[in-house]
Amino acid sequence: MAKIAILGYGTVGSGVYEVIKTNQAIVNANAGEDIDIKYVLDLRDFPGDPVEKILVHDYDVILNDDEVSVVVEVMGGVEPAYTFVKNALLKGKSVCTSNKALVAAKGPELIRIAKEKNINFFFEASVGGGIPIIRPMKECLTADDILEVSGILNGTTNYMLTKMADEGWEFDKALKTAQDLGYAERDPSADIEGYDACRKIAILTSLYSGKNTDFEKIYTEGITGITATDIKYASAMKMVIKLVAISMKEKDDKGNEGIVSMVCPVMLDRVHPLYGVNDVINAVFVKGNVLGPVMFYGSGAGKLPTASAVVSDVVEAVKTCKNEYIGWDAEELKLMSVGSVRRSFFVRMKGSEKDKLAEAESIFGPVTVVKAPGVDGEFGFVTGEMSEDDFNGKYEKLDGAITRIRVNQR
Ligand code: HSE
Repeated sequence: MAKIAILGYGTVGSGVYEVIKTNQAIVNANAGEDIDIKYVLDLRDFPGDPVEKILVHDYDVILNDDEVSVVVEVMGGVEPAYTFVKNALLKGKSVCTSNKALVAAKGPELIRIAKEKNINFFFEASVGGGIPIIRPMKECLTADDILEVSGILNGTTNYMLTKMADEGWEFDKALKTAQDLGYAERDPSADIEGYDACRKIAILTSLYSGKNTDFEKIYTEGITGITATDIKYASAMKMVIKLVAISMKEKDDKGNEGIVSMVCPVMLDRVHPLYGVNDVINAVFVKGNVLGPVMFYGSGAGKLPTASAVVSDVVEAVKTCKNEYIGWDAEELKLMSVGSVRRSFFVRMKGSEKDKLAEAESIFGPVTVVKAPGVDGEFGFVTGEMSEDDFNGKYEKLDGAITRIRVNQR
């Protein structure tokens, strides 16, 4: 029998408990032995809850219990999760975590300790909620040079953007509902400012490049600047606005190859593979040099889908006695500047098309004008394809610019 401990009895922690109890026979059969939850760690008490009898407040009880072979960390945040996880690994206990902040910040060290101790540090649920993506990247997509990994990696913002576009909800109502549904981070600015998606694309970039990607160096823009009017323009163009996390091999102006990564709202047209990814669903698009495109699609947040991915890691950790290397080196990946990425841009501009179009075209060259029903005193246009640097230089010169959104980067 394998004894495990769950650190944190919040949304995901209670989900892990529920998934194991609901699917106990299946989980045991897949693991090859019975899995028993010996402890749940939380600062709070849960009177009347089934975990009451196994609840502990002192982590040392778990750390010093040699019977516990797998620790599930679902507390979130870097500390104290980092200290708890590191100490568990140093004690020879495998760790399964859903904590993307921890993996993005401390991944290489924890991966190294697990390797040295010949145990496992697994983090399937840290990216894409319930979607299997971490292990497939390391165990299935191994015949290819990966050229791109891009996707919708935040369920909260995808849910919000979907409701704002389809139901006309205000930003605040959409966020509050996402919080009530258990999708959002404790501090929802991690979702709406794009930081959560940024950490997730950093993890995926580290995985396929084999080098550590510093998430702080990834250009990140969230959805706080997206308004109902932007969405009206997108609808008028038969497009949708999605928060897209991008990581792809590119060449700069001098022909040097590198990886470029960014998180930002993008207007996508109907042929884009991420166009129809709605609500809390996430999707990860991977392109290999011989495989071509594949897409992973499923529930990107929420208690049970995320817990399902965590428990699949527990099953793997119990089944696999020795280290199954899922990780990357500590050496830092030098990201290429996003300035050379080429695409079109949507721009909103104050004034009328009659008065201002000539000025816009004198700066950007020929543009396509967009009109949104019910929007007055301004107009929109889409530029031709140009680099980010080129666009930014031109946009600065535009008198009366309201906002700009990148368009369909494919
Ligand atoms: N807040 C995250 C999201 C949870 O909405 O995607 C899953 O990582």
